[in-house]
Amino acid sequence: MTQHDDIPWDELAATAKEAMQKAYVPYSTYPVGAAALLDDGRIISGCNVENASYGLTLCAECALVSALAMSGGGRIRAFSCVDGAGTTLMPCGRCRQLLYEFRAPDMVLMTVSGIRTMDEVLPDAFGPQHLA
Ligand code: THU
Repeated sequence: MTQHDDIPWDELAATAKEAMQKAYVPYSTYPVGAAALLDDGRIISGCNVENASYGLTLCAECALVSALAMSGGGRIRAFSCVDGAGTTLMPCGRCRQLLYEFRAPDMVLMTVSGIRTMDEVLPDAFGPQHLA
């Protein structure tokens, strides 16, 4: 058994899909849902919320990290996000940075090319360590 065998990927995908159905996307019509397993076992989620001022769009991951803070904080062990068809979606570059901030040391993501570590999807990342 590896350290990632206990991750409930199906539950994460289902939670992300449920979140995706709440997306507010009148401009792009491209709903996204995200879900994460935290180090204490909780599962949190988020959806994208757009704005008439297009550049102010909040990605699903923004809602997810807000949910993380609002529900008591913690670290992300595993992450999954889906598009409107429920298919695995890669988090955009900005959102990889958002996730990096709250990663558990062994964080993994479900991606279009299988399970990847945070370091694989954001190598040599800038992070809190640079400001210490
Ligand atoms: N989007 C996300 O919510 N997360 C991503 O990682 C990729 C893009 C949203 C933003 C916008 O509402 C829509 O997808 C189309 O770009």
